[in-house]
Amino acid sequence: MSLLEVKDIRVLYGKAIALNGLSLLLNSEELVGVVGPNGAGKSTLLRAISGVVPVEGEIIYQGERIDRLPPHEIIRKGIIHCPERRQIFTEFTVAENLAMGAFLRKDKVSIKKDLSYVYRLFPVLSDRRNQVAGTLSGGEQQMLAIGRSLMSEPKLLMMDEPSMGLSPLVKKDLTDSIIDIWKSGITVLVVEQDASLTLELTQRVYILEHGKIGLEGSSSELKDNEEVKRVYFQMG
Ligand SMILES: Nc1ncnc2c1ncn2[C@@H]1O[C@H](COP(=O)(O)OP(=O)(O)OP(=O)(O)O)[C@@H](O)[C@H]1O
Ligand SMILES: [Mg+2]
Repeated sequence: MSLLEVKDIRVLYGKAIALNGLSLLLNSEELVGVVGPNGAGKSTLLRAISGVVPVEGEIIYQGERIDRLPPHEIIRKGIIHCPERRQIFTEFTVAENLAMGAFLRKDKVSIKKDLSYVYRLFPVLSDRRNQVAGTLSGGEQQMLAIGRSLMSEPKLLMMDEPSMGLSPLVKKDLTDSIIDIWKSGITVLVVEQDASLTLELTQRVYILEHGKIGLEGSSSELKDNEEVKRVYFQMG
């Protein structure tokens, strides 16, 4: 059974159609990418799965329909959305931001364990735990956003353009961290405009065009396909 099944969904903003008949599958413990240009509907797809926009069609998680559930119940099931442009609490410290990620949890021991994992994964956050988040660099803020998502105990972590605005060196560190997270047993769905980063990082990729999937395949095959690179990724 797949972990997540998105079946023929449509999302409208007023009269504008953002997603139009989109379907995709995620298996447990996969690392999957969705690539597409500005306005293709990437963020809308993650919003639809998170339950923050109304959806037509079906979204099934662990065999159960979730497309009518309120967002907090979807979070409780372990579907965690690390949103675009970071959205951290800039007035609060690093440690306070991380604590807020755990607001639905009660088990202090496992919260502490996850906090140590976040500080191990991103030592700079540990060094700066008392610093106000708004004064962190862009890369550090991205780490904090991911760290806060990890504090929500994800089974499925969905990241919206994690590499946006980062230098090549920081991007490399970030992809290493995402692989570490995935290897810890979390299923990861990454939405990106950076096609080469996504093809390097993931096992499978869906290409999103005008609100639906244009092409899908294994990242290693797509990476070697000159036609695909030229038409879909404007690479090579
Ligand atoms: N709240 C909204 N109201 C009206 N239209 C919206 C709203 N949010 C998104 N849209 C439209 O829906 C379409 C898909 O937007 P979405 O943000 O999902 O794209 P995206 O692939 O994430 O783009 P980007 O790479 O720029 O982040 C766009 O045409 C956008 O203008
Ligand atoms: Mg977006």
